[in-house]
Amino acid sequence: MEFKEVIRKRRSVRKFKDKSIPEKEIKEIIEIGHMAPSAGNLQARDFIVVSDEDEKKKLSENAYGQKFIAEVPWVVVVCANKKRSESKYGDRGRNLYSIQDATAAVENMLLAIVDKGYASVWVGAFNEEEVSKQLKIPKDVRPVAIIPIGYPAKSPKKPSKMNYEEITHYERW
Ligand SMILES: Cc1cc2nc3c(=O)[nH]c(=O)nc-3n(C[C@H](O)[C@H](O)[C@H](O)COP(=O)(O)O)c2cc1C
Repeated sequence: MEFKEVIRKRRSVRKFKDKSIPEKEIKEIIEIGHMAPSAGNLQARDFIVVSDEDEKKKLSENAYGQKFIAEVPWVVVVCANKKRSESKYGDRGRNLYSIQDATAAVENMLLAIVDKGYASVWVGAFNEEEVSKQLKIPKDVRPVAIIPIGYPAKSPKKPSKMNYEEITHYERW
């Protein structure tokens, strides 16, 4: 697929087919995610791949009942590694760059998912403490996005977006 087509085609999908995806595809999606830039090339991001049915169900509960999380074959939890970025950049690394490193990877992943004919939605609404406890995430690492990966069951309509003029400022705000 052409680059622009992938960008245009990406939609937040919340309904999935009951159809499996080979594990090697998930590995490739994460590798593409990890090609994203990172502050000082510290790559302050980690990925947790979840496919166990009970764990997916628990994740869905910890994401305030977003059911579709339990209905896909794979879920990847993208984490910001605060410690890795703090080692060089102090507070800015810990509180900002690590989040940016992780979320840059998320967008790459979302596009790779579309390019492969699958679908996803960026899930940011979840109980961070409970997800950390569930997945045994260390203290200095923060889960920032839950990425369910499956085959789309329907393609949502394009949501309205603000106009270019409303969000772009020239020379000053
Ligand atoms: C930081 C962030 C958190 C989000 N959290 C959720 C979420 O918890 N659940 C959900 O269904 N969608 C979530 N979304 C998806 C947005 O609702 C979606 O991107 C937006 O409505 C625009 O639609 P589009 O992605 O199809 O362009 C999130 C998106 C972002 C960037």
